[in-house]
Amino acid sequence: MKFERSWVKRRLSSSIYHYNLTFDMDKQRHYITDTTDLETDGAKVMAEVNGQEIAVYRLDGEYYAIANFCPHQSGPLCEGNRKGKVDLGEDGWNVEYSEEIYVECPWHSWMFDIKTGEHAVDDRYRVPTYDVEIEDEKVYVIR
Ligand code: FES
Repeated sequence: MKFERSWVKRRLSSSIYHYNLTFDMDKQRHYITDTTDLETDGAKVMAEVNGQEIAVYRLDGEYYAIANFCPHQSGPLCEGNRKGKVDLGEDGWNVEYSEEIYVECPWHSWMFDIKTGEHAVDDRYRVPTYDVEIEDEKVYVIR
């Protein structure tokens, strides 16, 4: 099914425009960096793609791209540190830390899953994520 862009824009939820993110049906592949810049787990490279800052992370040997944008008050989310989520252990007493797959916004500490873009505890909030492709040791983001 093919949509005219203007038709889609009229019917998109206002949140996409509220956050000033662009929605483009004609996705393209954008070169970001070489895999040598993301050799270790936890490494991050920032880039701008079509006016949107994006961070590409390497986690568990895989690559993930997420918008450098916090839906709370538009903070530079990916300038924050990676963290694990803190939960109460099964005994209800001791705390447990998850893997460091979350990025914590430097402004007010909201945390988002780098792999899915989901807020750590409130599923009303989500940050856009993008597909990543590797070809000939080059990292591309699809946007
Ligand atoms: S702007 Fe990111 S937590 Fe407030």
